[in-house]
Amino acid sequence: MKLQIFNSYELMSDAAADLIIEIVTNKPDAVLCFATGNTPVRTYQLLIEKAVSQHTDFTKCFCIGLDEWLGVAEDISGSCHYILQNQIFRPLGITKNQVHLFNGTAEDPENECEKMNKIIESKAGIDCMVVGIGINGHIGLNEPGVDVSRKAHIATLHETTILSGQNYFKEPTIINKGITLGMAQIMQARTLLLLASGKNKAAILQQATRGSISNDVPASFIQQHENALILVDKEAAATLS
Ligand code: PGA
Repeated sequence: MKLQIFNSYELMSDAAADLIIEIVTNKPDAVLCFATGNTPVRTYQLLIEKAVSQHTDFTKCFCIGLDEWLGVAEDISGSCHYILQNQIFRPLGITKNQVHLFNGTAEDPENECEKMNKIIESKAGIDCMVVGIGINGHIGLNEPGVDVSRKAHIATLHETTILSGQNYFKEPTIINKGITLGMAQIMQARTLLLLASGKNKAAILQQATRGSISNDVPASFIQQHENALILVDKEAAATLS
């Protein structure tokens, strides 16, 4: 694990976008996984600008979903589907057949997990994952206490996730459960890029990167990832020892 501190959110986002461009330039058929949330929004905007100016070819890459709210349809603006489609896939010209996301309204969510696990195996793993960190230490929807050996699974959401999750929806939306890639898959990503911005992430970033490795803070396992890069702005790094 390496950690880099940037003077601003803008500089952090710029570095993250450069890294994604570099990975896709070196491996045009890379398997990518992008988190939703507020943190990577600027990274994705810069990624699109850089992809245009540098003529980066995304036509051969494949994109995997990190997570989804269970029971939320893909046309709801707070769904991960909707956000990824609008923030990344459409602007980059990534087509439906280059993408596999969790269907939050599938009749059989366990089967969704199985399908996702098989797709990741058939693609021989994920080349680059971009993730955030929740204030409770989650990555994706791997909530505190999760069995870190698990692959894709259904997660019961913690109170903090339910509350912060509302921020992504235009209207109050019931979210109790989610569907997520497991820590086993996150830890196997060939490059794991974790972004954290703002002072409300300072305490959990300290615990995740300097504290003991425990499933109480799922993100702490990133300390064991050989090719994890944690990019943070100085507000998020404020209490790093
Ligand atoms: P955020 O979410 O980027 O909106 O802070 C991060 C997360 O909960 O994983």
